[in-house]
Amino acid sequence: MSSTEGVIARYRSYLPVTASTPVVTLREGDTPLLRLRNIEKHLACEAELYAKFEGLNPTASFKDRGMTVAVSKALEEGASAVVCASTGNTSASAAAYAARANLKCVVILPEGAIALGKLAQALLHGAKVLPVAASFDGALEIVRKISSTYKITLVNSINPYRIAGQKTAAFEVCDLMGDAPDYHILPVGNAGNITAYWMGYQEYFDAGKCARKPRMFGFQAEGAAPIVLGRPVEKPETVASAIRIGNPASWESAIRARDESGGEIRAVSDAAILEAYRMLARMEGIFAEPASAAALAGAIQMHAERLLSRGHRAVLTLTGHGLKDPGTALKIVPEQKAVKPDVESIADMLGLKRL
Ligand code: F0G
Repeated sequence: MSSTEGVIARYRSYLPVTASTPVVTLREGDTPLLRLRNIEKHLACEAELYAKFEGLNPTASFKDRGMTVAVSKALEEGASAVVCASTGNTSASAAAYAARANLKCVVILPEGAIALGKLAQALLHGAKVLPVAASFDGALEIVRKISSTYKITLVNSINPYRIAGQKTAAFEVCDLMGDAPDYHILPVGNAGNITAYWMGYQEYFDAGKCARKPRMFGFQAEGAAPIVLGRPVEKPETVASAIRIGNPASWESAIRARDESGGEIRAVSDAAILEAYRMLARMEGIFAEPASAAALAGAIQMHAERLLSRGHRAVLTLTGHGLKDPGTALKIVPEQKAVKPDVESIADMLGLKRL
């Protein structure tokens, strides 16, 4: 089946769907795997670094892989409404897939903590957006309770259909590379994605589709690093708003992914995240959002500790598109001043030589 038909069509036999499941798709998945040659050279890194750019999904984040499955199953099971808590991307994706499925969508968001693009997506797709004076963790608590008491289907990653859909990214990595990489490096927030990738690699290995499994390296932001600290963080803080999470729902399964794969879950500073964010944009032409850049900040940390050597292949998941959060980009670039609309003075300013 062609990869252009979405992840359910492409990986149907690995997913919890039947012939009668109504497939709700926006043709998610099939995202590019890009070699980061300029960054390898800049770091003098002898390992091969690849980015799986999930920002190129239909709503511009990896969430779409899970949402196609979760919303299709919700429809199959007769739901009329879906609900999620979100740091932004899940709400954008839920709102879009719910619109396509003619389902109502309710999103509960930590007030004032969502990147502009994500909020615009959820609103324009017609979701009922309810900001609450709480962190993401508080919002998720509300959503858990509402969905266990009222007729509304939860589509956060504690819904197993979400994880099932998201594991298809690991399948794509193996299909594109011919095998699993040595390392898989990704940001960790609510810890659903690291859980999903590890499930995907294990299933592909068991099916004989890859000959190895990668070591899973997850990176949290220093100010929001509960798994690294070994305890929940009450007031998580980081520039990477997508992973501003203090009590991840999939904590246990993230630890299992780490331990079973021989990997680690570590922290990176906001400064390192922003530096990696800038590097991806300037050196590789990839505009990923700050949370995604935590993966590159992590790879740089691993390189500094000589964990990545010649012959190794490391795949970094760049989870969301940079256009989601233009505010952060504009904060770290020089301010733009208008120039005189005059050819001579512009050429002068640029130091251009005459023909
Ligand atoms: N990167 C981005 C861009 C995200 O939006 C998220 C999570 C993560 C990384 C972390 O993934 O939670 O599976 O460990 N965003 C969720 C949301 C929490 O509500 O959009 P995770």
